[in-house]
Order: sequence, then C-alpha cells, then structure tokens
Amino acid sequence: MRILNVDDNSDNLLLLQSLLGTNDNTFFDAKNGREALKILAEQEIDLVISDILMPIMDGFTLCKEIRSNPKLHNIPFIVFTATYTGQKDEVLARKMGADDFIVKPCEPDELVRRIDKTIKHQNSRNRLEDIQTYNDETVLKLYNERLVRKLEDKMLEMENEVLERKKAIVALQRSEGILKATQSLGKLGGWEIDMQNGEVYWTEEMYRLHDIEPGSISGDDLIAASLEGYPEESRLKLQEYFQTIREKGTAYTLESWFTTQKNRKIYIRTSAIAKMENGKTTHILGIFQDISEQKNAEIKHQELMQQLRQAQKLDSIGQLAGGVAHDFNNILTVILGYSEEILNTLHQRDPIRQDIQEIASAGQRAATLTRQLLTFSRKQVIKPQLMNINEAIGNLSKMLKRLIGEDIDFVLDLGTNVPEFMADVGQIEQVIMNLVINAREAMQMGGTLTIKTFGYTADDSFCSTHPMISGKHFAVLRICDTGSGMDKETMEHIFEPFFTTKAKGHGTGLGLPTVYGIVRQAGGNIHVESTPGKGASFVILLPATEQSLETPTAPTVPTHTTGNKELVLVVEDDPAISDLSGKIIQKMGFRVKLASSADQALVMIEDEGLRPKLVISDVVMPGLSGIELAAIIKFKHPEMKFLLMSGYTETVIAKHGDVDPKIPFLHKPFTHQELLHKIEQALET
Ligand SMILES: Nc1ncnc2c1ncn2[C@@H]1O[C@H](COP(=O)(O)OP(=O)(O)OP(=O)(O)O)[C@@H](O)[C@H]1O
Ligand SMILES: [Mg+2]
Repeated sequence: MRILNVDDNSDNLLLLQSLLGTNDNTFFDAKNGREALKILAEQEIDLVISDILMPIMDGFTLCKEIRSNPKLHNIPFIVFTATYTGQKDEVLARKMGADDFIVKPCEPDELVRRIDKTIKHQNSRNRLEDIQTYNDETVLKLYNERLVRKLEDKMLEMENEVLERKKAIVALQRSEGILKATQSLGKLGGWEIDMQNGEVYWTEEMYRLHDIEPGSISGDDLIAASLEGYPEESRLKLQEYFQTIREKGTAYTLESWFTTQKNRKIYIRTSAIAKMENGKTTHILGIFQDISEQKNAEIKHQELMQQLRQAQKLDSIGQLAGGVAHDFNNILTVILGYSEEILNTLHQRDPIRQDIQEIASAGQRAATLTRQLLTFSRKQVIKPQLMNINEAIGNLSKMLKRLIGEDIDFVLDLGTNVPEFMADVGQIEQVIMNLVINAREAMQMGGTLTIKTFGYTADDSFCSTHPMISGKHFAVLRICDTGSGMDKETMEHIFEPFFTTKAKGHGTGLGLPTVYGIVRQAGGNIHVESTPGKGASFVILLPATEQSLETPTAPTVPTHTTGNKELVLVVEDDPAISDLSGKIIQKMGFRVKLASSADQALVMIEDEGLRPKLVISDVVMPGLSGIELAAIIKFKHPEMKFLLMSGYTETVIAKHGDVDPKIPFLHKPFTHQELLHKIEQALET
C-alpha cells in the first residue's frame, strides 16, 4: 500500500512506519495540507493518514480539498491525532469526509485493524453518500468552532511550554550561580579550547586565579599569558603534554608553582582531558586549581618532621657522647689523681716534674672536653636558679666588648619586661660566649654584632609549629651577625659534636653542641637562620618560670682539716679509682677499707662488724646501687655518714632510686681538694 502521512512533526512518520512496517507499504511524507496535495497530484496514493493541526493547511481543510477533488475524492482519509479536544472533533472530521478518527497513542494491532476496515469500506454506497455532506453550513460552523478550540489549546500548550522554559532558565541560572560560587570557594578555574576554530573559553574563576581582567585578552593571548606564569621546567612539560593531548588525546595532570599577572605566587594543579571525534581531538577541557593551602601545609609538615628528626639525631648522638664521656671521666679521675699525687710527693726541682705536669695538663684538657660533651648530652650536673637574661649579659658585657674587638660594631638591645627563667647562670653565660665567639669568627672583615633580648608570648600557631617546646611565655635571646653566614648543608650539622668548618686544630666543633645541650636542659629551644654571605642569626627561647628566686648557697670553703684515724669505707667497682681514692683518703689521715660492690660492703658491715664513720660509694655499679646501699645503711646504722660519687648527672642517677638530698654528691673527675671538701661536708651532716 502507498500511504501518505501528513504531519508537521517528522518523528510521527517514523512512528507510523514502525507501527505498520515498511515491507508491504511505501510511505510518503508531507508537513502540511499543501504539501500533501502536491504529492497527491503527482503520486498514486492508496491511503492518507493525517494530523489535524498543522501550519499552512490543517487536516480538516485537507480532507475537504480531497473530497471536493473528483480525482482524489475516493481516497480513504484517516485522522490520526494526539490533540483530542472532545468528541466534536471526531464528529467534524467525519462530516468533512474522514473515514476514521484515531487518537494516539494506539496499539499497532488496533491501528492495522482500523486501516483494514477503512480500506474494505472504500467503495461502499453509504460511505460515498456520507462524504457528499461536507458542504453543509452547520459543518462549516462546527469546523470554525473546532479549529478555534484547537488553536486555544495549542496556545495554552505553548504558554505552558514558555512557562516551563522560564522555569528551566531560572534553574539554569541558579545552578550556574552555585557553580561559580563553588568554583570560587575551591579556587577552581575551568577552561576549554575548541581545536577546530582555536576559540579559548575561560571561566570567571580562571581569570581571577590568573589576575587577568575578564575579556581583556582572548584566544592565543590567553594561553600565552597562562604559560608565562609557570617556571621554565613546568612550562616545557606543559607544552609537551599539550602536544600529546592534541595528537593522541592523552589526559594530563601537572602540579607546579605559578606566578600570577599581579606577581602572586601560588601552587596550582592543572589537569586536562580531550573530547575526540573520529580519532581526532576536537576540544580540550581542563581545570586549574590553586592548591597553595594544601601545599603549604605539606611543606610545614615536612619542616616539622625535619625538626623532629634533627632533635632525635642529636639526642642519640648525645646519649652516645654522654656514655663515652662518663667512661672517660673514670679514666681521667685516675690520670689526674695520680699525677696530682706524684706532683705532691716530688721535690720541686725533680727533673721528672715537668713531664708529670704535662700529663696533668693534658688530663685537664681532656676533662674540659668531656665536660663539654656531658653538657651537650645534658648529663652535666647543673645548679639551676631563677635568672634574668639581661643581668647575665650585663655581667658579661665588658668582657664581650673586649672579645669582639674594635673592627666589629656591637649593638646591645635589651628589652624591658623580659621574664625570668630557671637555668644555670654559668651555663647561660657559656651560651652567650660561644655564640659571640662564633659570630666574631664569622666576621673576619668586620661587621655588626647585635644582642637583643625580649619577652615573647606564643600563640597557638607558634605552639603547633614548635612541638619541641613547652610553655607559652619565653625570654628570647637573639644574637645575630653580618658575617659569612652558612649554607643549608652546614646548618644541618652545626649542632653535632665535633662538626667544624675551621681548619684543623682551630676549632673543636663543641661550641654549638654545648649551646644546644644547655638550652635544651633549660627546657628551651634554639632556632638558626642564615644565608651564605649575609650573616647568621641564633634565636634562643627560654621558658619563663613563676618560681621564686632561689637563694644560692655560698660554697663552704674547705678547711683542710685532716682525719683522725676514722675509718672510711670506699665502695667502687672500678679498681683504679678505688685504689686512688683509698690512697688520697689515707693520706688525709683516715683509715681506709675498700669494697668492690655494695653487696660486699653490706657483708663487711653486717657480718664482719665493720663500723666505718663514713661510706663513700659510686652510684652505678653491678648489683645494688650506691643509692640503695645508702638507704639500707641509713636505716640500720643512722650514725654512719655517706658520700655519693658519680660521672653521671643527678637526673641520670635519679633513675637508680630516690637520692636523699642531704647526702653530698661528688662529681668525677675530682681533685684532691674537691674530695677533701666533700668528705668534710659529709662528716658534718
Ligand atoms: N655565626 C656563625 N656564622 C657562620 N657560621 C657559623 C656561625 N656559628 C657557627 N658557625 C658554623 O658552625 C660550625 C660549628 O660551630 P661550633 O661553635 O660548634 O664549632 P667551631 O666554632 O667550629 O669550634 P669551637 O667552637 O669548638 O671553637 C662552625 O665551624 C661554623 O662553620
Ligand atoms: Mg665555636
């Protein structure tokens, strides 16, 4: 069958074709009545299926035209419409000569059945009589009425459509607003390049991130302006990525520092993907995001980790150095003790006297070194007291001026209200001296040395970036010079013992480790900044304390009284020290017994009935410690006096038990004088 489909919506033809099938049917397509009449004039048509409402000529008029044309009037005409506005539509259609009136949607079976029925009735007498009635006046009236009605409906439909479109536009504007706001919040710019015509599109945020006025430049100039912001290395990479995405459609991501047109330095991430058609890139779409905040947090984290690693490294070196220094102290006690002993017995003119003196002074130098090592490892016995940094500098200033010399300008800038803190005055003076000496050595050609002090109250951000430090209020000491400065590599090692850049024999490399040890022992922190050729600045923070001033007790001057054959028991596991101490004490007029451990000493006292007047004991020994021995003896024989000696600090010793603060303490290595003084102190308790 040859079917003419008349519909202004071409999709409806496809629908009809799929409903009826194209095997037995040939379809002709017209968009309105006029086109349909043209086709009817040229083609043999078996059936017309038509919509009603169409531009130029509607379905009713088409039907009327067909029926009034003697050549066409017998062709079956079916109205097939989706806009059914009432039964009168059908009545009118039939009056105009339509064979059937079918409303969409319609099942295919039903459609086929109705078409068959129409074709069968094509030549029946009833039908031919019916279709003569189209001229009736009532029909024309009905036609007008239906058409107006239909137009009204169409208007309504269009109004609804306009309303929907307005709603869609509002929704679109809203979504665009949200998109802009979120892009601005996320500092996320978007861009697109049309590869066919070279058009470049940037979102508002994209312009903002580049500090470029929207619309001020376009096209290739935008790309060039963007590329300008990258450092050379990133730019080359980006150009390479761009070529690959253009040729192969390979997506890319790049993170880089970026300088905007207003010279803002930001860290960005840019990614792009390709839109392809037939294996060719037609568009490239990308994002450009400012991720400076994340990057800076990452950098800060890395710096903190670096600080922590540095502190851990120095701690473990300190532990090692402290251990070595302790053993050295025992050996030095023996060397110094015996040289002193020999010097005391030798005649003033004895030729060997000079050699022994050399041994003694070498021993003294070694003792100084081990003391510095102990300071670094925070194992030095200290006497902390409440102190004021300005006073310490004041006391030193004369000496500092002399030390610095004429070539260097010396600026003192001492702040008011610098809080007091707990530290060993001698040690803090040592810190200032070491730093000033270093500064002087870095300014061989002259310069300016500034010592500044001030009080500082840390805020939360400071505390979070300085986990090594405790407290909120600090006394700050800043010593800076305009000397040679240091490179990064040097700065990483300056606090390590024996690190020096000086020529062999000119520096021990213990100056800064000593400073570090002292500052850390006082609970403080040290911070260094330096640029090669531009000087160095050492900033020391010391945590303020509220404790009241500790009145330093005046040292008691040894009176050189000698013993009166009282019995002294020396408990020491190192036989060299035990022998030496025994000899010295004997010479002082005491009787001496030696025990190599606390357990042996107890056996001598408890089982053998030994009743020494004084027990001198090392602290750290195999078996019972000196502290435990002191506690037992004090409990059982309160009349016996006790003296502790060790190469370790009191804090290390505290790990071996609670030390009775009344028991005097002797630090190794010791001189005869010191030993004698401590024995007297012990006997007085
Ligand atoms: N103010 C400074 N300017 C430049 N470099 C410095 C400064 N202070 C320290 N340094 C560097 O740190 C290194 C270590 O200093 P430190 O005080 O620990 O040892 P030293 O001065 O070399 O030797 P010592 O102090 O034992 O005489 C120095 O050799 C030097 O390279
Ligand atoms: Mg030094």
